[in-house]
Amino acid sequence: MTNPGRIAVVRRFGAPEVISIETHPVAPLRSGEIRVAVRTGGLNPVDARLRSGTFGGSVPMALGTEFAGVVLESADARWVPGAEVIGWGVQGADADLVTTDATRLHPKPAELDWALAGGIGGVGSTAVTALDTISAAPGDVIVVHGAAGGVGTVLVQLAAARGLVVIGTAGPANQEHLVRLGAAAVEYGSGLSERVTAVAQGRPIAASIDLAGSAEAGDLATAVLAAGGQAITLVPETMAGHGIRLVRVQRSSATMAVLLDAIAAGTLTLPVESLPFTEIVEAHRRLDAKHARGKLVLDLSDNPHLPVL
Ligand SMILES: NC(=O)c1ccc[n+]([C@@H]2O[C@H](COP(=O)([O-])OP(=O)(O)OC[C@H]3O[C@@H](n4cnc5c(N)ncnc54)[C@H](OP(=O)(O)O)[C@@H]3O)[C@@H](O)[C@H]2O)c1
Repeated sequence: MTNPGRIAVVRRFGAPEVISIETHPVAPLRSGEIRVAVRTGGLNPVDARLRSGTFGGSVPMALGTEFAGVVLESADARWVPGAEVIGWGVQGADADLVTTDATRLHPKPAELDWALAGGIGGVGSTAVTALDTISAAPGDVIVVHGAAGGVGTVLVQLAAARGLVVIGTAGPANQEHLVRLGAAAVEYGSGLSERVTAVAQGRPIAASIDLAGSAEAGDLATAVLAAGGQAITLVPETMAGHGIRLVRVQRSSATMAVLLDAIAAGTLTLPVESLPFTEIVEAHRRLDAKHARGKLVLDLSDNPHLPVL
């Protein structure tokens, strides 16, 4: 019998302060299920939407959708206790224990840092999905709105590696960050379109990828479409406000393998900041602020279910 574990729950939708860490009992595993002791909990903007109620669903609601950890028990022969894994698609992953199935687990490389293991999947898979949705050839110019966050940091590097010319938008504090990733950096705000045109030096914009959801990103996407280019958004507000095609992340073990190979090869980096699980309210305040550089994750190294190393 496994001891109970902690889990982050909202019992009413609202500001970050509605989150509480509760204790939850553990049910026996059913055939095909795998129980993982969580070492890192991923944090994504969708978690803030879920918490506030703008994503739908009902309360009480357990938070978190992705994680990295160690298999504790397994009713599937493919995973044995002690295996280090990266997992996704589980509601309630901000917890000591998650129960999942083999289709939503990928082996964690032993040398991969735990924080990066818990943070790369969602943003990396979103970046791959977005890039695979557009049709762009080496030398084409693309604009990435909101390029300094988790998704953008990965997307800029993958796009540059494909030979695309990337113009990324970010605030003043993140301009250098974008240049280091391989983008031409442009500040968002009034006059964005003129600044992008100047940096593009007369070359047409092949695609606009919106990760920011701002009105000016929507306006520029509309202009790119009107000029015969492509435009997609990952943000529902830009679809609602400007009619730009909304793309949803596709997650798979195959995509995880591509991302992990790029990290191992040194061609993909992602700055990750960890906050202790007990500071999940502060973590959600930061999600609400929408000014992340790279990635924020939850550190559950104090999880009593983790094997003692
Ligand atoms: N559809 C899907 O399946 C899917 C999947 C994953 C993510 N998403 C969405 O994609 C978006 C990005 O996710 P993320 O994880 O990368 O978020 P994030 O890490 O919180 O990054 C947000 C970034 O947006 C930038 N930003 C804020 N206001 C901006 C503006 N007006 N113009 C341009 N950039 C601005 C910030 O840069 P500064 O600090 O420099 O301002 C920050 O780096 C979120 O809305 C998320 O919900 C959708």
